[in-house]
Amino acid sequence: MQESVIGGPPGAPLAGPVLGLESSCDETAAAILAPDGRVLAETLLSQVVEHARFGGVVPEIAARSHLVHLPALCARVLEQAGLRPGQLGGVAATSGPGLIGGLVVGASFGKGIALAQGLPFVAVNHLEAHALTPRLPGLLEQAPAFPYLLLLLSGGHCQCVAVEGLGRYRRLGTTLDDAVGEAFDKAAKLLGLPWPGGPHLERLAAAGDPGRIPLPRPMLGRPGCDFSFSGLKTAVAQAAGRLPEGGSGRADLAAAFQAAVAAVLADRARNALRMAGSPTALVVSGGVAANGAVRAALAGVAAAAGLPLVAPPVRLCTDNAVMVAWAGIERLRAGLRDPVDHAPRPRWPLDEMAAPAG
Ligand code: KG4
Ligand code: ZN
Repeated sequence: MQESVIGGPPGAPLAGPVLGLESSCDETAAAILAPDGRVLAETLLSQVVEHARFGGVVPEIAARSHLVHLPALCARVLEQAGLRPGQLGGVAATSGPGLIGGLVVGASFGKGIALAQGLPFVAVNHLEAHALTPRLPGLLEQAPAFPYLLLLLSGGHCQCVAVEGLGRYRRLGTTLDDAVGEAFDKAAKLLGLPWPGGPHLERLAAAGDPGRIPLPRPMLGRPGCDFSFSGLKTAVAQAAGRLPEGGSGRADLAAAFQAAVAAVLADRARNALRMAGSPTALVVSGGVAANGAVRAALAGVAAAAGLPLVAPPVRLCTDNAVMVAWAGIERLRAGLRDPVDHAPRPRWPLDEMAAPAG
C-alpha cells in the first residue's frame, strides 16, 4: 500500500512556517504563521457582497468564489511573508465542518501545495480552530489553561464546548434549531434590515427600549445548556406584524430581541460552566461575540463565577485563516498530521477529533 502521509515521519519537528487556508463558508482566507505562532502574513476576502442579494450564503456561489480567489490570496501571503512554498513547514486547510464545495476547494488546494513541496498536511476541524484561538501566543496577556469553556456563537454554530486539551473536546450543549447568528439574521430580516443582520440589529437596538415589548426567553431556567431560538423568531415575526407605523417600535423590538438572546445565552453559559468541571476561563467566539449586549451579559456570568471572560479580537472571532494555521501548528507540534486522501467532512463533530497519544 502506498503511504499517503507526506513530509517526513510523524512527530518530526516543525521545520518552518505553516500556511493556513479557510474556505468552509463565505470567507476565503489565507495566513502564514511562524512555528511559534507569530503571524507573518494574513489576508481575507469576504463574499458578503456576492451573497447579500440572496439574503444568505449560496453554496455554489461560495465554492466558485473560493476557487477563483484562493490561489491569488496564497500568493499574496507568501509574498508578504517573504517566503517560497518550499520554505514552509506545513500546510493546514479547513476540512470540515462546512459547505462541501468550499471545503473541497480549500483542502484540495492545500494538499496540492503539500504534495508538490513534500510538506506535512493537516486537515483542520474548523470548530477546533475556533476552540484553540485563545491559545495563539501574544493574543492575550495570559492564554487560558486547559480546561476552559468555549461558547461558540456564530451564524452556523451555537455550542458550549469544554476544551480539555488538544484534540479533547466535550460538547456540553448545542442548538435544537437555529444557530444564534442565524436567529439574529432572521430577526433582522423581519425588521427590514440587510443581511447579515446582526450588526444592523445591534445598531437599531441601541435606540430602543428592551422592556417595552415582551418576548419569550426559550430554554431559560431549564437544566443543561442547549439552546433554541425558533420560538423567539416566531414571536418577533408576530410582534413585527403588530408594530404601529413610525415611532420607536422597530428599535424597541430589536432591543427586546437582543435582550432576550443575551439573557438566554447568560443562563446557558452559567449551566455550562458548572458542567465543564473546573474551567479556568469562559471563552466566547464567533461573530455574535462582537455584540455588546451579549458580551456584557457573559461578562456578568464569568465575574460571578470568578473567571475571566476571554473574547479574542473580532477579526479572530469571526472566520479567518490565522486560527486554521494555528490549529495546524498545534497538531503538527503534537506529531499529528493527515493523509492527503483525507476526505473533507461537511459534518464533523468536535468530539471526534483525535488527541495526541499518551
Ligand atoms: O463567525 P461568523 O463571522 O461566521 C459564521 O457564521 O461562520 O458569524 C457571522 C454571524 C452572522 O449571523 C452575523 O449576523 C452575526 O455573526 N453577527 C452579529 C454581530 N456581528 C456579527 N450578531 C449580533 N451582533 C453583532 N454585532
Ligand atoms: Zn466559524
